Amino acid sequence: MKAYRVFDVGKFGAGRIAEMSRDELDAGNVAVKIAYASVNYKDALTARGKAKIAMKFPLVAGIDLAGVVEASGDARFKPGDEVIVHSFGLGAEHDGGYAELGRFPADWIHPLPEGLSLFESSALGVAGHTAALAIDLMEMNGLAPAKGKVLVNGATGGVASIAIDILAHRGYHVVAMSGKPQQAQYLKGLGAKEIIGRAQIPERQRPLEDAQWAGAVDAVGGAQLGWLLRRMQRDGVVAAFGNASGADFQGNVLPFILRGVRLLGVNVNNPFETMSRLWGRLATDLKPRHLERIARRIRFEDLDQAFDELLAARVTGRQVVDFSLR
Ligand SMILES: NC(=O)c1ccc[n+]([C@@H]2O[C@H](COP(=O)([O-])OP(=O)(O)OC[C@H]3O[C@@H](n4cnc5c(N)ncnc54)[C@H](OP(=O)(O)O)[C@@H]3O)[C@@H](O)[C@H]2O)c1
Repeated sequence: MKAYRVFDVGKFGAGRIAEMSRDELDAGNVAVKIAYASVNYKDALTARGKAKIAMKFPLVAGIDLAGVVEASGDARFKPGDEVIVHSFGLGAEHDGGYAELGRFPADWIHPLPEGLSLFESSALGVAGHTAALAIDLMEMNGLAPAKGKVLVNGATGGVASIAIDILAHRGYHVVAMSGKPQQAQYLKGLGAKEIIGRAQIPERQRPLEDAQWAGAVDAVGGAQLGWLLRRMQRDGVVAAFGNASGADFQGNVLPFILRGVRLLGVNVNNPFETMSRLWGRLATDLKPRHLERIARRIRFEDLDQAFDELLAARVTGRQVVDFSLR
Protein backbone atom coordinates (compact mmCIF):
# COMPACT_ATOMS: atom_id res chain seq x y z
CA MET A 1 0.00 0.00 0.00
CA LYS A 2 0.98 3.64 -0.37
CA ALA A 3 2.00 5.65 2.67
CA TYR A 4 3.68 8.95 3.45
CA ARG A 5 6.74 7.84 5.39
CA VAL A 6 9.45 9.78 7.19
CA PHE A 7 12.93 8.30 6.87
CA ASP A 8 16.08 8.81 8.92
CA VAL A 9 17.61 11.49 6.69
CA GLY A 10 19.11 14.82 7.82
CA LYS A 11 18.77 16.17 11.36
CA PHE A 12 15.16 15.25 12.16
CA GLY A 13 14.11 13.05 9.21
CA ALA A 14 12.55 13.68 5.80
CA GLY A 15 9.26 12.44 4.37
CA ARG A 16 8.02 11.18 1.00
CA ILE A 17 5.39 8.93 -0.53
CA ALA A 18 6.61 5.34 -0.46
CA GLU A 19 5.27 1.81 -0.85
CA MET A 20 5.04 -0.30 2.29
CA SER A 21 3.45 -3.62 3.21
CA ARG A 22 0.73 -3.92 5.84
CA ASP A 23 3.03 -6.12 7.90
CA GLU A 24 5.41 -3.21 8.38
CA LEU A 25 2.76 -1.13 10.20
CA ASP A 26 3.10 -0.61 13.93
CA ALA A 27 1.11 -3.11 15.97
CA GLY A 28 -2.37 -2.52 17.40
CA ASN A 29 -5.37 -4.74 18.03
CA VAL A 30 -7.70 -2.74 15.76
CA ALA A 31 -7.06 -2.30 12.01
CA VAL A 32 -8.64 0.81 10.49
CA LYS A 33 -9.15 1.50 6.79
CA ILE A 34 -8.36 5.19 6.67
CA ALA A 35 -10.84 7.42 4.83
CA TYR A 36 -9.50 10.87 5.77
CA ALA A 37 -6.41 12.31 7.46
CA SER A 38 -5.97 16.02 8.01
CA VAL A 39 -2.90 18.17 7.39
CA ASN A 40 -1.66 19.89 10.53
CA TYR A 41 1.21 22.30 11.13
CA LYS A 42 2.92 19.60 13.16
CA ASP A 43 2.69 17.17 10.20
CA ALA A 44 4.42 19.69 7.96
CA LEU A 45 7.23 20.10 10.52
CA THR A 46 7.60 16.31 10.70
CA ALA A 47 7.59 15.77 6.94
CA ARG A 48 10.12 18.49 6.32
CA GLY A 49 12.35 17.58 9.29
CA LYS A 50 11.95 21.03 10.83
CA ALA A 51 11.61 19.82 14.42
CA LYS A 52 12.33 16.70 16.45
CA ILE A 53 8.91 15.08 16.17
CA ALA A 54 9.53 11.69 14.51
CA MET A 55 10.62 9.36 17.30
CA LYS A 56 11.14 6.28 15.10
CA PHE A 57 12.12 5.63 11.49
CA PRO A 58 10.56 4.95 9.14
CA LEU A 59 7.37 6.57 10.45
CA VAL A 60 4.00 6.95 8.75
CA ALA A 61 3.25 10.64 9.37
CA GLY A 62 -0.20 12.09 10.10
CA ILE A 63 -1.34 13.02 13.60
CA ASP A 64 -5.05 12.32 13.13
CA LEU A 65 -7.33 10.17 11.02
CA ALA A 66 -10.90 9.03 10.54
CA GLY A 67 -11.88 5.71 9.06
CA VAL A 68 -13.72 2.40 9.26
CA VAL A 69 -12.70 -0.61 11.35
CA GLU A 70 -11.52 -3.44 9.11
CA ALA A 71 -10.66 -6.00 11.79
CA SER A 72 -10.77 -5.91 15.57
CA GLY A 73 -9.35 -8.00 18.37
CA ASP A 74 -11.22 -5.91 20.96
CA ALA A 75 -14.85 -6.35 21.94
CA ARG A 76 -15.49 -2.58 21.85
CA PHE A 77 -15.07 -2.42 18.06
CA LYS A 78 -16.31 -4.48 15.12
CA PRO A 79 -15.71 -4.30 11.36
CA GLY A 80 -17.68 -1.43 9.82
CA ASP A 81 -17.51 0.86 12.88
CA GLU A 82 -16.64 4.47 12.07
CA VAL A 83 -13.83 5.78 14.28
CA ILE A 84 -11.48 8.69 14.98
CA VAL A 85 -7.85 8.28 16.13
CA HIS A 86 -5.38 10.95 17.29
CA SER A 87 -2.88 11.73 20.08
CA PHE A 88 -1.01 8.99 22.03
CA GLY A 89 2.04 9.70 19.86
CA LEU A 90 0.23 9.14 16.56
CA GLY A 91 2.32 10.39 13.65
CA ALA A 92 5.36 10.76 15.94
CA GLU A 93 5.99 7.56 17.90
CA HIS A 94 3.39 5.33 16.22
CA ASP A 95 2.47 5.08 12.52
CA GLY A 96 -0.19 7.68 11.77
CA GLY A 97 -2.86 8.67 9.29
CA TYR A 98 -1.16 9.04 5.91
CA ALA A 99 -1.63 5.44 4.76
CA GLU A 100 -4.50 3.39 3.44
CA LEU A 101 -4.53 1.31 6.64
CA GLY A 102 -3.42 1.75 10.24
CA ARG A 103 -3.24 -0.47 13.33
CA PHE A 104 -3.93 1.03 16.74
CA PRO A 105 -4.58 -0.09 20.32
CA ALA A 106 -8.34 0.00 21.03
CA ASP A 107 -7.72 2.31 24.01
CA TRP A 108 -6.75 5.12 21.63
CA ILE A 109 -9.86 4.90 19.45
CA HIS A 110 -12.98 7.11 19.67
CA PRO A 111 -16.21 5.88 18.12
CA LEU A 112 -17.45 8.55 15.70
CA PRO A 113 -19.88 10.62 17.79
CA GLU A 114 -23.45 10.94 16.57
CA GLY A 115 -23.84 14.30 14.86
CA LEU A 116 -20.53 14.22 12.95
CA SER A 117 -19.77 12.63 9.57
CA LEU A 118 -16.38 10.98 9.04
CA PHE A 119 -15.33 13.91 6.85
CA GLU A 120 -16.42 16.45 9.48
CA SER A 121 -14.49 14.61 12.18
CA SER A 122 -11.34 14.78 10.06
CA ALA A 123 -11.95 18.41 9.09
CA LEU A 124 -11.97 19.01 12.85
CA GLY A 125 -9.17 16.56 13.74
CA VAL A 126 -6.52 17.70 16.20
CA ALA A 127 -7.17 21.31 15.13
CA GLY A 128 -10.85 21.21 16.05
CA HIS A 129 -10.03 19.40 19.23
CA THR A 130 -7.53 22.11 20.15
CA ALA A 131 -10.01 24.89 19.41
CA ALA A 132 -12.66 23.18 21.54
CA LEU A 133 -10.20 22.66 24.40
CA ALA A 134 -9.11 26.32 24.28
CA ILE A 135 -12.71 27.56 24.44
CA ASP A 136 -13.64 25.02 27.13
CA LEU A 137 -10.68 26.20 29.26
CA MET A 138 -11.39 29.90 28.70
CA GLU A 139 -15.03 29.55 29.69
CA MET A 140 -14.07 27.52 32.78
CA ASN A 141 -11.89 30.53 33.64
CA GLY A 142 -14.73 33.00 33.43
CA LEU A 143 -14.94 34.05 29.78
CA ALA A 144 -18.48 34.83 28.60
CA PRO A 145 -19.82 36.87 25.65
CA ALA A 146 -20.86 39.74 27.94
CA LYS A 147 -17.27 40.20 29.17
CA GLY A 148 -16.07 41.77 25.90
CA LYS A 149 -14.32 41.09 22.61
CA VAL A 150 -12.25 37.97 21.87
CA LEU A 151 -9.14 38.22 19.67
CA VAL A 152 -8.20 35.23 17.50
CA ASN A 153 -4.58 35.50 16.33
CA GLY A 154 -3.28 33.65 13.26
CA ALA A 155 -6.91 33.78 12.20
CA THR A 156 -6.83 32.01 8.84
CA GLY A 157 -5.02 28.97 10.28
CA GLY A 158 -6.73 25.64 10.88
CA VAL A 159 -7.22 25.80 14.65
CA ALA A 160 -8.01 29.53 14.55
CA SER A 161 -10.62 29.25 11.76
CA ILE A 162 -12.50 26.63 13.75
CA ALA A 163 -12.19 28.71 16.94
CA ILE A 164 -13.70 31.75 15.17
CA ASP A 165 -16.63 29.68 13.93
CA ILE A 166 -17.34 28.19 17.38
CA LEU A 167 -16.89 31.47 19.28
CA ALA A 168 -19.12 33.45 16.90
CA HIS A 169 -21.86 30.83 17.19
CA ARG A 170 -21.66 31.09 20.99
CA GLY A 171 -22.34 34.81 20.78
CA TYR A 172 -18.85 36.26 21.14
CA HIS A 173 -17.73 39.42 19.35
CA VAL A 174 -14.73 37.96 17.51
CA VAL A 175 -11.84 40.09 16.30
CA ALA A 176 -9.71 38.16 13.77
CA MET A 177 -6.04 39.13 13.54
CA SER A 178 -4.38 37.84 10.39
CA GLY A 179 -1.36 38.26 8.13
CA LYS A 180 -3.68 37.69 5.15
CA PRO A 181 -5.83 40.81 4.68
CA GLN A 182 -7.11 39.39 1.39
CA GLN A 183 -8.97 36.73 3.39
CA ALA A 184 -11.25 39.22 5.17
CA GLN A 185 -14.36 37.88 3.42
CA TYR A 186 -13.53 34.33 4.47
CA LEU A 187 -13.06 35.40 8.10
CA LYS A 188 -16.29 37.42 8.10
CA GLY A 189 -18.06 34.41 6.61
CA LEU A 190 -16.97 32.36 9.65
CA GLY A 191 -18.48 34.96 11.96
CA ALA A 192 -15.64 37.40 12.74
CA LYS A 193 -17.04 40.90 13.40
CA GLU A 194 -13.75 42.79 12.91
CA ILE A 195 -10.60 41.97 10.97
CA ILE A 196 -7.24 43.51 11.89
CA GLY A 197 -3.81 43.09 10.30
CA ARG A 198 -0.98 41.19 11.99
CA ALA A 199 0.50 43.29 14.80
CA GLN A 200 3.60 45.31 14.04
CA ILE A 201 5.66 44.93 17.19
CA PRO A 202 7.59 48.07 18.12
CA GLU A 203 11.06 47.60 19.57
CA ARG A 204 10.20 49.42 22.80
CA GLN A 205 6.83 48.56 24.30
CA ARG A 206 5.03 49.88 27.34
CA PRO A 207 4.38 47.22 29.99
CA LEU A 208 0.60 47.72 29.67
CA GLU A 209 -1.48 49.08 26.78
CA ASP A 210 -5.14 50.06 26.49
CA ALA A 211 -7.24 47.11 27.60
CA GLN A 212 -9.09 45.80 24.55
CA TRP A 213 -9.93 42.13 24.86
CA ALA A 214 -11.68 39.88 27.35
CA GLY A 215 -10.27 36.78 25.69
CA ALA A 216 -7.61 35.82 23.19
CA VAL A 217 -6.81 32.62 21.29
CA ASP A 218 -3.22 32.55 20.06
CA ALA A 219 -1.82 30.29 17.33
CA VAL A 220 1.27 32.37 16.79
CA GLY A 221 3.36 32.70 19.98
CA GLY A 222 6.64 34.61 19.70
CA ALA A 223 6.58 38.37 20.12
CA GLN A 224 2.85 38.50 19.33
CA LEU A 225 1.84 36.64 22.47
CA GLY A 226 3.66 39.24 24.60
CA TRP A 227 2.02 41.98 22.51
CA LEU A 228 -1.50 40.75 23.11
CA LEU A 229 -1.00 40.02 26.83
CA ARG A 230 -0.35 43.75 27.34
CA ARG A 231 -3.76 44.52 25.81
CA MET A 232 -5.98 42.20 27.83
CA GLN A 233 -8.77 43.56 29.99
CA ARG A 234 -8.97 42.97 33.70
CA ASP A 235 -9.44 39.21 34.34
CA GLY A 236 -8.91 38.55 30.63
CA VAL A 237 -8.07 34.99 29.57
CA VAL A 238 -5.56 34.00 26.90
CA ALA A 239 -5.43 30.48 25.48
CA ALA A 240 -1.94 29.90 24.04
CA PHE A 241 -1.63 26.81 21.89
CA GLY A 242 0.69 27.65 18.99
CA ASN A 243 4.17 28.68 18.01
CA ALA A 244 3.73 29.49 14.30
CA SER A 245 6.06 32.48 14.65
CA GLY A 246 8.36 31.13 17.33
CA ALA A 247 8.57 29.46 20.71
CA ASP A 248 10.04 32.31 22.76
CA PHE A 249 7.93 35.20 23.88
CA GLN A 250 8.83 38.39 25.67
CA GLY A 251 6.58 39.85 28.28
CA ASN A 252 6.30 41.25 31.77
CA VAL A 253 4.27 40.30 34.82
CA LEU A 254 2.14 43.48 35.02
CA PRO A 255 -0.78 42.05 33.00
CA PHE A 256 -0.90 39.19 35.52
CA ILE A 257 -0.45 41.11 38.76
CA LEU A 258 -2.26 44.37 37.91
CA ARG A 259 -5.04 43.10 35.66
CA GLY A 260 -5.39 39.49 36.82
CA VAL A 261 -4.88 38.24 33.27
CA ARG A 262 -4.81 34.45 33.01
CA LEU A 263 -2.51 32.74 30.54
CA LEU A 264 -3.86 29.26 29.83
CA GLY A 265 -1.67 26.62 28.25
CA VAL A 266 -3.48 24.36 25.79
CA ASN A 267 -2.17 20.88 25.10
CA VAL A 268 -4.34 18.51 23.16
CA ASN A 269 -2.81 15.35 24.67
CA ASN A 270 -5.21 14.71 27.51
CA PRO A 271 -6.63 11.68 29.27
CA PHE A 272 -8.94 9.71 26.96
CA GLU A 273 -12.03 10.69 29.00
CA THR A 274 -11.30 14.41 28.52
CA MET A 275 -10.88 13.90 24.79
CA SER A 276 -14.14 11.92 24.59
CA ARG A 277 -15.98 14.70 26.39
CA LEU A 278 -14.63 17.27 23.93
CA TRP A 279 -15.59 15.10 20.92
CA GLY A 280 -19.08 14.97 22.39
CA ARG A 281 -19.15 18.77 22.54
CA LEU A 282 -17.72 19.13 19.01
CA ALA A 283 -20.63 17.03 17.77
CA THR A 284 -23.22 19.13 19.64
CA ASP A 285 -22.93 22.54 21.31
CA LEU A 286 -19.44 23.33 19.97
CA LYS A 287 -20.05 22.02 16.43
CA PRO A 288 -18.77 24.59 13.90
CA ARG A 289 -21.28 25.65 11.28
CA HIS A 290 -18.88 26.24 8.39
CA LEU A 291 -16.67 23.16 8.21
CA GLU A 292 -17.31 22.72 4.48
CA ARG A 293 -16.00 26.25 3.95
CA ILE A 294 -13.03 25.80 6.31
CA ALA A 295 -11.81 22.41 5.06
CA ARG A 296 -10.67 21.52 1.54
CA ARG A 297 -10.29 17.93 0.34
CA ILE A 298 -6.92 17.11 -1.24
CA ARG A 299 -5.46 13.99 -2.89
CA PHE A 300 -2.93 11.89 -1.03
CA GLU A 301 -0.50 12.60 -3.89
CA ASP A 302 -0.70 16.34 -3.09
CA LEU A 303 0.66 16.02 0.46
CA ASP A 304 4.12 17.42 -0.29
CA GLN A 305 2.65 20.56 -1.81
CA ALA A 306 0.23 20.87 1.13
CA PHE A 307 3.11 20.79 3.64
CA ASP A 308 5.12 23.45 1.82
CA GLU A 309 2.15 25.79 1.52
CA LEU A 310 1.31 25.35 5.19
CA LEU A 311 4.86 26.15 6.29
CA ALA A 312 4.86 29.23 4.06
CA ALA A 313 1.60 30.37 5.81
CA ARG A 314 -0.18 30.36 2.42
CA VAL A 315 -3.03 28.04 3.47
CA THR A 316 -6.41 29.28 4.60
CA GLY A 317 -8.37 26.90 6.82
CA ARG A 318 -7.81 23.16 6.79
CA GLN A 319 -6.65 20.59 4.24
CA VAL A 320 -7.93 17.03 4.49
CA VAL A 321 -6.52 14.06 2.58
CA ASP A 322 -9.47 12.18 1.05
CA PHE A 323 -8.21 8.70 0.19
CA SER A 324 -11.07 8.20 -2.28
CA LEU A 325 -9.79 11.06 -4.50
CA ARG A 326 -7.57 9.90 -7.36
N1 LIG B 1 -0.95 22.88 21.80
C1 LIG B 1 -1.44 21.91 21.06
O1 LIG B 1 -1.81 20.86 21.55
C2 LIG B 1 -1.55 22.18 19.58
C3 LIG B 1 -2.49 21.51 18.82
C4 LIG B 1 -2.64 21.86 17.47
C5 LIG B 1 -1.82 22.85 16.91
N2 LIG B 1 -0.87 23.44 17.69
C6 LIG B 1 -0.01 24.50 17.16
O2 LIG B 1 -0.85 25.60 16.82
C7 LIG B 1 -0.32 26.34 15.75
C8 LIG B 1 -1.35 26.44 14.65
O3 LIG B 1 -1.64 25.16 14.13
P1 LIG B 1 -2.51 25.02 12.81
O4 LIG B 1 -2.59 23.56 12.50
O5 LIG B 1 -3.76 25.81 12.95
O6 LIG B 1 -1.52 25.72 11.76
P2 LIG B 1 -1.83 26.60 10.48
O7 LIG B 1 -3.10 26.13 9.84
O8 LIG B 1 -0.58 26.62 9.69
O9 LIG B 1 -2.11 28.05 11.09
C9 LIG B 1 -1.10 28.90 11.60
C10 LIG B 1 -1.48 30.34 11.27
O10 LIG B 1 -0.61 31.20 12.00
C11 LIG B 1 -0.33 32.34 11.23
N3 LIG B 1 1.12 32.38 11.01
C12 LIG B 1 1.89 31.52 10.37
N4 LIG B 1 3.19 31.88 10.40
C13 LIG B 1 3.22 33.01 11.06
C14 LIG B 1 4.25 33.89 11.41
N5 LIG B 1 5.52 33.65 11.08
N6 LIG B 1 3.93 34.97 12.11
C15 LIG B 1 2.66 35.18 12.45
N7 LIG B 1 1.64 34.37 12.15
C16 LIG B 1 1.91 33.30 11.46
C17 LIG B 1 -1.05 32.21 9.89
O11 LIG B 1 -2.32 32.84 9.99
P3 LIG B 1 -2.59 34.35 9.45
O12 LIG B 1 -1.86 34.48 8.15
O13 LIG B 1 -4.05 34.46 9.33
O14 LIG B 1 -2.01 35.27 10.51
C18 LIG B 1 -1.26 30.71 9.80
O15 LIG B 1 -2.33 30.38 8.97
C19 LIG B 1 0.97 25.61 15.34
O16 LIG B 1 2.05 26.22 15.99
C20 LIG B 1 0.73 24.19 15.88
O17 LIG B 1 1.93 23.49 16.10
C21 LIG B 1 -0.72 23.12 19.01
